[in-house]
Amino acid sequence: MIAQEELVDRIVRRYDGEVGMLIPMMQDVQAECGYLPAGQLRRLAERLDLPLSRLYAVATFYASFRLAPKGRHEVTLCVGTVCYLKGAGEISAMIQKEFKVEAGGTTADGLFSFQPVNCVGACALAPVMIVDGKYHDGVTQEKARGLLRGLSPDETGAQAEAKK
Ligand code: FES
Repeated sequence: MIAQEELVDRIVRRYDGEVGMLIPMMQDVQAECGYLPAGQLRRLAERLDLPLSRLYAVATFYASFRLAPKGRHEVTLCVGTVCYLKGAGEISAMIQKEFKVEAGGTTADGLFSFQPVNCVGACALAPVMIVDGKYHDGVTQEKARGLLRGLSPDETGAQAEAKK
């Protein structure tokens, strides 16, 4: 494990400490850590002499940044207009409540990350849920619950993917 000072300092040096390169620096932190740990963001803000709130604003604006470690499985739920009208909002609420996971977060046991997103381009199949890259159509609360309960705690998403 790289000390956070060491990692951030190395990345800041890579971009000559240019504040305008904040996003690439944050991308590099995420590439090395898998997400943006709070300590690394704090250190980066200090090194660039920027308010920490600015880094969090960037991190939450871009969907590609993660503030929590990835779960072993990735669950994406479309909450675009068509999916929403067909119940995706209630499915999202059920997942967050029953599995105790925030939108954009990861379950406490690291089983899965949950990301509601806008239209994934498969409106005819609405509501759509994507689990480890596999599309599931016509998802209901029951179907979503079953899919999530069926996730194995023992294997990584990649291993599950390889078994398909
Ligand atoms: S709105 Fe969900 S796939 Fe288009």
